[in-house]
Amino acid sequence: MTQQSDAAPAGPSGDEDPAQFWENMYSQRRDNTGIRGSRVNPRLIEIVEPLPPGEALDLGCGAGGDALRLARQGWRVTAVDIATTAVEKLRSLAQAEGLGERVTAEQHNLARTFPAGTFHLVSAQYPHTPFTLPEHRYCGRPQRPCDPAADY
Ligand SMILES: C[S@@+](CC[C@H](N)C(=O)[O-])C[C@H]1O[C@@H](n2cnc3c(N)ncnc32)[C@H](O)[C@@H]1O
Repeated sequence: MTQQSDAAPAGPSGDEDPAQFWENMYSQRRDNTGIRGSRVNPRLIEIVEPLPPGEALDLGCGAGGDALRLARQGWRVTAVDIATTAVEKLRSLAQAEGLGERVTAEQHNLARTFPAGTFHLVSAQYPHTPFTLPEHRYCGRPQRPCDPAADY
C-alpha cells in the first residue's frame, strides 16, 4: 500500500526546473491534492472573517483550500500556482462546488509572470520553495496592484 505523508518534499536535484519539481509534488499524490491537500489555513480565515468580501489574490495557492474557502465567503479569487496539476485541481473543485464564477485559477511562475488585476486582499500562505525566488516577486510586487481607494 502506498502511503501519503505531509513530509516536506526532497529538495531539487541538479538543474531541475521549478515548474517540474512542483508539478511532481502534486501529480504524484494519489488524490492530486499535494502537500497540504485542500486544507484551509486557519490564520487566514481569522484575518478575513471580519472583512467584507472583495477581490482576493492567492499566491502559490496549491490545491486551493484557501481560495475555495474565500470564494464560499463571497470573495472573487484569483489563485495562482506554478504547478499545472494544482491549478487544474482547484479549477475542477471550484466548478464542482458551483464556485467557478468566483475562482480564477491561473498558472504562473511568479519569478517570471504575475496575474493582472487589483486586489483588496493578497495572501501568500507558506510560500516556501527550494528554488531562488526573489522576495519582491512574490511579496513586494502585489502591493502595487492593490486598490488604495478600497475601504479596508
Ligand atoms: C509550501 S506550498 C504552500 C501551498 C498553499 N499556499 C498552502 O498553504 O497549502 C508552496 C506553493 O507554492 C507554489 N510555488 C512554488 N514556487 C512557485 C513559483 N515560482 N510561482 C508560483 N507558485 C510557486 C508551489 O507549487 C506550492 O503550491
